[in-house]
Amino acid sequence: MSKQDKNIKYLFEPRSIAVIGASSDKGKIGHSVMNNIIKGGYQGKIYPINPRGGEIEGIKAYKSIMDINGEIDVACITIPAKFVVDSVRQCAAKGVKYGIVITSGFSEIGNSEDERKMVQIANEKGMRILGPNIFGIYTAEVSLNTTFSGSAIPSGGLGIVTQSGALGLTMIGQATVGNVGLSTIVSVGNKADVDEADLLEYLITQERTKVILMYMEGVRDGERLVEVLKRATKVKPVVIIKSGRSQRGAMAAASHTGSLAGSDAVFDDIIKQCGALRAENMKEAFDWSKFLSNNPLPRGENAVIITNGGGAGVLATDACEKFGVNLYDDMENLKTIFSPATPEFGSTKNPVDITGQAKSEDYTKAFDAALHDPEIHAVLGVFCETSMFTHEDFDRAVEHNYRQFKAAGKPIVFGLLGGETVSEYTRDARRKNIPVYEDIYDAVSSLGAMYSFKRYVDEKDDEIADVAIDVKAIDSIVDGARRDGRSFLFSHEGQNIMKMTGIPVPKSLIAMTIESAVKSAAAIGYPVVMKVVSKDILHKSDVGGIALDLENDQEVISGYEAIMRNCRMNMPNAAIEGVEISEMVKPGTEMIVGAMVDKTFGPTVMVGLGGIYVEVMKDVSFRALPMARTQIMEMIKEIRSYPLLMGVRGEKTRDINALVDTIIKLGAIIRNCKGISDIEINPLVIYEQGMGARAVDVRIILSKEDREVR
Ligand code: COA
Repeated sequence: MSKQDKNIKYLFEPRSIAVIGASSDKGKIGHSVMNNIIKGGYQGKIYPINPRGGEIEGIKAYKSIMDINGEIDVACITIPAKFVVDSVRQCAAKGVKYGIVITSGFSEIGNSEDERKMVQIANEKGMRILGPNIFGIYTAEVSLNTTFSGSAIPSGGLGIVTQSGALGLTMIGQATVGNVGLSTIVSVGNKADVDEADLLEYLITQERTKVILMYMEGVRDGERLVEVLKRATKVKPVVIIKSGRSQRGAMAAASHTGSLAGSDAVFDDIIKQCGALRAENMKEAFDWSKFLSNNPLPRGENAVIITNGGGAGVLATDACEKFGVNLYDDMENLKTIFSPATPEFGSTKNPVDITGQAKSEDYTKAFDAALHDPEIHAVLGVFCETSMFTHEDFDRAVEHNYRQFKAAGKPIVFGLLGGETVSEYTRDARRKNIPVYEDIYDAVSSLGAMYSFKRYVDEKDDEIADVAIDVKAIDSIVDGARRDGRSFLFSHEGQNIMKMTGIPVPKSLIAMTIESAVKSAAAIGYPVVMKVVSKDILHKSDVGGIALDLENDQEVISGYEAIMRNCRMNMPNAAIEGVEISEMVKPGTEMIVGAMVDKTFGPTVMVGLGGIYVEVMKDVSFRALPMARTQIMEMIKEIRSYPLLMGVRGEKTRDINALVDTIIKLGAIIRNCKGISDIEINPLVIYEQGMGARAVDVRIILSKEDREVR
């Protein structure tokens, strides 16, 4: 895990910069970079480096970085890949703090060796590498543009960190068109050394950056990213676009938890857990970023829709539900507030319908009423284009009111539906940074993103939930299984660990023969369940290794014979140790609870609807550990089946506390037991409130080798 970089300020605010490969040839990147640095108005020292020396763009060029007298904070490298390692060696020797390596031709094409070498040589002398394979950095703080972008970069409050250089260059274009000013744009490329977390550390405290937008393809150190993101999102909004929603790699996973995880499902949930806002696409990301940088946060949850059309009002209501915007529903108060601004045939319910005859002054009256009422915290103005509206009318109804709201610190967004007039007006208004959208869903999506941010900021940091467990005893069970050559624990071993941790399991006994199976069943009490015990069989039901609901001795005998027959037929080479006889548990709500060491995010937990259809239903949610009890509750509430736990059709509420406790306990095992990589309980049967839960089937997979536990 990389540590916090004390020097990071110098990457964004260098006092001097060397351009290695600066060139007078207008067709070369080394020329564009020099040109952008000079044109951008950078006031620090600029040192072009070129083997020929002379002058480049009117500035004295040096043949080698070693010839420069004075300190260099940043060296921007634009020479072919085969020369880069040597160049980095010289920079490191010179004491350069950061190398910005624009050059391509490293790990992205399989040349990992040179990339590794360059980082090692740099780090040995305390120098760090941004890139390689990047377009450079723009930083408004010191008016420095080391990119080879063709367009001038507008300065402002949006900080962009992008893994893709090419997409980053298009973002500069989009920012210009959308009139979104940037505080910085940095490309991280191959992330050989400096990564998003390092850059976030700086952007969290930098005043100029109001909103952070990150484009990511992969995560290198997920645990650190989570830690830094959680801090960042408490201070300013972080919007993330991540490509690659594929399930690749999930197929091979040995547990449901692993296969349900896929890289993206985990990423999505964990990013949300950190308070970051994940946008679907670039347009949404820019919409949110722009809205969040220019508008005040709501002081409370009550939003109102003001519309001139019933249908549009319904659409807006649907959108509010989708994006988590709460509509104010105190009908009496709504009537008092909006009656003076609503015709008799309109409606003061929310949506407030001021009807199709509404002119700009009618909108202003209704907006004014909302603006001055302290119970209303956010407004969505919805317009259907009618003959009442020319461009100027929209100006009066939208721009005028927008300015009033902004001055009063109350957010307002506008959804305009219509034809040419609306299109033209929207384009003009958006250039002035007024939050006007031609689609109601886009308008509400921005307001929803703002609410998500606000809710995260307002959330208090509850105490982390944890329990003490007997790590030594668990480790010794794991060691025993390893000595046995197994990569997983037998079900009875898993059940023992559950018992040690205080998770109730059904009574069970192991039997090696038919006779002892019958005896064990009688000792446990009918009905019973019988399962094969074999180190070679992980998925027992797939091979016919389970018999359920056995009611008497005869059924136990037939069940035993059937299991042996099925296993021999389906897995002829499996060594069979015997069978496990367990109590048939009473029915309840079947959940799945898992804990695993995620490749990217480390210890992670999952909860969802259990049973045999888990992979079809995919009704699960994930979180990175550690977390507080309240956050576990949020995770449970996120699954679609949550109402089942609350009790449907007269059923009593389930023992949700028992579910939370089980998650905390599995979390403690995965965080502290270095030999375990996956634990899964499916089903965890949850009974009525106060009656607890039972872990019916427990599967535990071992890590290939002991991992580090923190
Ligand atoms: N020190 C200083 N200057 C050096 C040098 C060294 N060790 N080695 C070469 N140079 C000079 C060259 O003489 C040349 O200057 P000149 O025009 O005055 O002769 C300049 O550096 C550039 O070298 P050149 O060999 O002409 O390379 P190039 O400009 O054709 O290509 C890169 C260099 C870095 C642009 C190219 O290798 C590359 O990686 N391109 C892809 C970049 C990219 O897409 N990055 C990702 C963006 S998202």
